[in-house]
Amino acid sequence: MKIVLAPMDGLTDTYAREILTAIGGFDLCVTEFLRVTDTLFPQRVFMRRFPELKPQDNQKISHTNSGIPVFLQLLGSDPQAMAENAAKAAALGSVGIDLNFGCPAKTVNKRDGGASLLKYPERIYHIVSAVRRAVPDSIPVTAKMRLGYEDQSLTMDNARAIEDGGAEWVTIHARTKTDGYRPPAYWEALAPVSETLNIPVIANGEIWSPDDYHLCRQRSLCDSVMLGRGAMVMPDLALQIKQDIENITEDQLQASLNWSQVVAYLEQFYTLMSANTELKERYIAPRLKLWVKWLMPTYSQAEDIFVLLKKIKDSRAAMDLILASVDKN
Ligand SMILES: Cc1cc2nc3c(=O)[nH]c(=O)nc-3n(C[C@H](O)[C@H](O)[C@H](O)COP(=O)(O)O)c2cc1C
Repeated sequence: MKIVLAPMDGLTDTYAREILTAIGGFDLCVTEFLRVTDTLFPQRVFMRRFPELKPQDNQKISHTNSGIPVFLQLLGSDPQAMAENAAKAAALGSVGIDLNFGCPAKTVNKRDGGASLLKYPERIYHIVSAVRRAVPDSIPVTAKMRLGYEDQSLTMDNARAIEDGGAEWVTIHARTKTDGYRPPAYWEALAPVSETLNIPVIANGEIWSPDDYHLCRQRSLCDSVMLGRGAMVMPDLALQIKQDIENITEDQLQASLNWSQVVAYLEQFYTLMSANTELKERYIAPRLKLWVKWLMPTYSQAEDIFVLLKKIKDSRAAMDLILASVDKN
């Protein structure tokens, strides 16, 4: 059973990957998507999206500091360009390549990428197989899809195309492109796929608690899951799920993170971002604020400070306000 941290453009950057894998429970991360058109990217583009390719100190290449592997996600529709970029990423040290067939964004779909490819299983097959041929056998190629574009009629065909193309596993976000992010997620639609395919199917969508995990597993017949927004709202969700399914004795059981522990992780998040001198101030404060906003459903303290926090532009001042919220409690 695997728990994968979802790629989320604008949320799960290298710093958030670092923090969430330090908290624990995750077995794998996938980078935010890198959009491939018809060119082979220079090395610096890979490094910017995927700084784990330039490891620090004892860090392993393409792993977080906690030793969790990170796969590069590519999004595009041209098999050759996808293959060339995947081969370059592999040569730079990426330990896996994930292919995005799920992005619903208009700008991406208009240019023939992401979920729009779900209308054409044969094109998905060509992309996966071209990438598979281009990277060494030792590097897994995986793919992420939705149930379909407008409806679920091609779910199985697309999943088979991914398997036939040589993917190691397929992650399925249990909604169509048209469903967007509107609940519910149709976990039951994954069951026939996971029963039919020979490769593992990883279930994704609307897992916000260990109870959701159990329900998703029951309905989808998938053991492994990918967690996205749930991990931003409850940073120890993966850990709680792992604890729930492993035979853990009462005294080994870890309590959920309290606010002061979460703030300590936010401070690490801030410190990691601030240590990167190339990172602009206008990146750091918004990231901090955004994570506090995501934490609001779980932590009332996040809700208490958000109105004030929203107005602060300076990242140090934002961090100080977050730290002060611990002293008050
Ligand atoms: C802000 C945001 C950005 C996302 N960016 C990506 C992305 O870069 N690649 C991808 O495959 N999916 C992306 N997704 C989809 C998520 O990986 C995931 O499939 C979706 O959020 C459903 O899972 P969840 O309910 O656990 O969040 C994004 C989702 C959100 C909310």
